[in-house]
Amino acid sequence: MPPRRLEYCLPMSISIKTPEEIEGMRLAGRLGAEVLDYITPFVKAGVTTGELDRLCHEYMTNVQGTVPAPLNYAPPGYPPFPKAVCTSINDVICHGIPGDKVLKSGDALNIDVTVITKDGFHGDNSRMFLIGEPSILARRLSEVTYECMWLGIAKVKPGAYLGDIGHAIQQHAEKSGYSVVREFCGHGIGRVFHEEPQVLHYGKPGTLDKLEPGMIFTIEPMINAGRREIKEMPDGWTIKTKDRSLSAQWEHMILVTETGYEVLTTSAGTPPPPAIVANKEA
Ligand code: MF3
Ligand code: CO
Ligand code: CO
Repeated sequence: MPPRRLEYCLPMSISIKTPEEIEGMRLAGRLGAEVLDYITPFVKAGVTTGELDRLCHEYMTNVQGTVPAPLNYAPPGYPPFPKAVCTSINDVICHGIPGDKVLKSGDALNIDVTVITKDGFHGDNSRMFLIGEPSILARRLSEVTYECMWLGIAKVKPGAYLGDIGHAIQQHAEKSGYSVVREFCGHGIGRVFHEEPQVLHYGKPGTLDKLEPGMIFTIEPMINAGRREIKEMPDGWTIKTKDRSLSAQWEHMILVTETGYEVLTTSAGTPPPPAIVANKEA
């Protein structure tokens, strides 16, 4: 089965962003990351995901002057997404809808934020939040998923292939005993939320599209502690692991530069690259 994100994509080739568009995407990326910085101190046991959504939405609207891209987003076959951000807890892989659910100690939560700036550019990123006293498994899964995202990012440079990114992610996830979700993937992004290319989080080196300076896409691996199969919930959005195992995700938006990559979703609170990547680059 092809990755579901196919349905989001128009049949066209990968766009190369102009210098003006790149400037617009730098701002979008920073603002997207700053929403995650803003919400961080509120993410603790006792708060509802609906309250976190409300706070993010207010911050975007009243402080940033941005618009939440998910709100009323309705790709073909999907009902309009009803909230401003996605909140995915424990066995929810992605696209969790904020609501009455109260966070409790031990929960592993992904918050996925996409802003649209006044110039119409999208800034898409997500982070994991571990509540109170998380299990060893939740800590390790989140850490390995973060390493997976960064091992993918570290492959990005002109002349490299999308398959190099997927391979690096899959290798690390599977050697850690985890599995890679196949139905959802990273994506090109700009004035359009989801555009070409699809960025698979598994694959073979030297395959798929060759990277060129000016491309912008997300890398957003979803890694399961158990099996990779998914289950769709009746709300039309929420995706869970079929075996109810824990799932984690991290997301950054990446520009291909003349010499390598630039992480666009960067803010004061962005976590540093993990040692597994920092050591290779040093
Ligand atoms: N932000 C998600 C992504 O990384 C997409 C969310 S679509 C929504 O691509 F409608 F669920 F918000
Ligand atoms: Co994305
Ligand atoms: Co996202």
